[in-house]
Amino acid sequence: MNMFPMVDPIPLPAPVWLFKALHLLTLSLHFTAMEIFLGGLLLATLFCAFAGADPVRKGAGAALARRLPIVLTFVINFGVPPLLFTQVLYGIALYTSSELIGLYWSAVILLLMAVYFLLYKFSDGASAGRRVWWMGALAWILAACISKIYSTNMTLMLRPEVWPAMYAASPSGALLPPHDPTLIPRWLFMVTGAFWVSGLWLVWIAGRKTTAPALGRFLTGVGGWLAALMISMQVCLFSIVLNSQPAVVKAGIAGSFWLKGTAIAWLGSAVLVLVFALWVALKKTCSYAAGYIAALLTVLTLASWVILRDGIRDLTLASKGYDVWQQAVVTNWGVVGWFILTLVLGLVAMGWLIWVMMQAKPVSEGGIA
Ligand code: HEM
Repeated sequence: MNMFPMVDPIPLPAPVWLFKALHLLTLSLHFTAMEIFLGGLLLATLFCAFAGADPVRKGAGAALARRLPIVLTFVINFGVPPLLFTQVLYGIALYTSSELIGLYWSAVILLLMAVYFLLYKFSDGASAGRRVWWMGALAWILAACISKIYSTNMTLMLRPEVWPAMYAASPSGALLPPHDPTLIPRWLFMVTGAFWVSGLWLVWIAGRKTTAPALGRFLTGVGGWLAALMISMQVCLFSIVLNSQPAVVKAGIAGSFWLKGTAIAWLGSAVLVLVFALWVALKKTCSYAAGYIAALLTVLTLASWVILRDGIRDLTLASKGYDVWQQAVVTNWGVVGWFILTLVLGLVAMGWLIWVMMQAKPVSEGGIA
């Protein structure tokens, strides 16, 4: 029996491929910022907690903490567009799952506000050299809860077979879904990613001209080793995530040239991350070039994961009766044209803002030679 609610009678105003492309692009950006945030926050907390009298570790904690409120704005602003595109493409699944865990899903907003509050306190305190690590730790725990809620909802939206029983048991949205073998591997995969991505973020910061040499060497050492360790762990989790999928999804990946290629692309990028991370850790390389390579590898690896993850979702939903490509579409090209025009204008405006920011007088960090 098909468990999905009736499809919205209003057709999509643009082709599915256009929504998909925009969704994949913006979600890759959200994941990049989110992984930097989740890993960077814990690292900043640990640097502050174990700094003792060491000025380099204090400098490292402050350098990260100072940037984190800005990173969080990117997490949120890059999170809104993919949320809208997911709702357009998968509304009947995502709205249902969001309602079923409504209490937790709505709690994200309160959790996010608490994270922001703690983050500002932590950032100010760390920059002033105060012992505020516990605020960072609390903010990280709350952010990790947000990530768990996201993974729970993105998994529940793929399980129409459990929706009726969940609704019958608790229509108030207070119930968590029954066990699903894909959830924990999927969530751990995302959280592990936070640590290699933030390791490469340290390599990026180390390469800035404003970073003092001693701080730069410390950041590349820690960042390189951390990225090497965590990408290796993520490769193991990658196989666990794929193996935990239902047989029909595994067969779908194996039979799709595109998805198989994406999985290989992810593995290839992960190997490049490992080699690069080991190289910077051993050489203690602090340079602009190393920073840009780190950024490129991060985006490549995360983008291939986002595409594969999207394919897994489509295969799972199709096996349960919802094919995202079979929706009624009546393209309103006038609206699409205006949308693309405003998008381009927005990107130009953002480019200009970034240019203005880069002209600002740099502030030197970790002033210990
Ligand atoms: C500290 C804040 C946040 C954290 C830690 C976080 C974490 C995550 C994680 C771990 C996932 C992946 C879930 C999975 O596939 O298993 C995810 C997906 C997502 N997040 Fe965030 N998130 C945060 C804030 C936000 C905000 C504020 C928004 C939007 C307003 C947002 C929008 C999304 C969307 C749209 C997806 C995936 C949608 C899809 O599957 O198509 N996130 N987030």
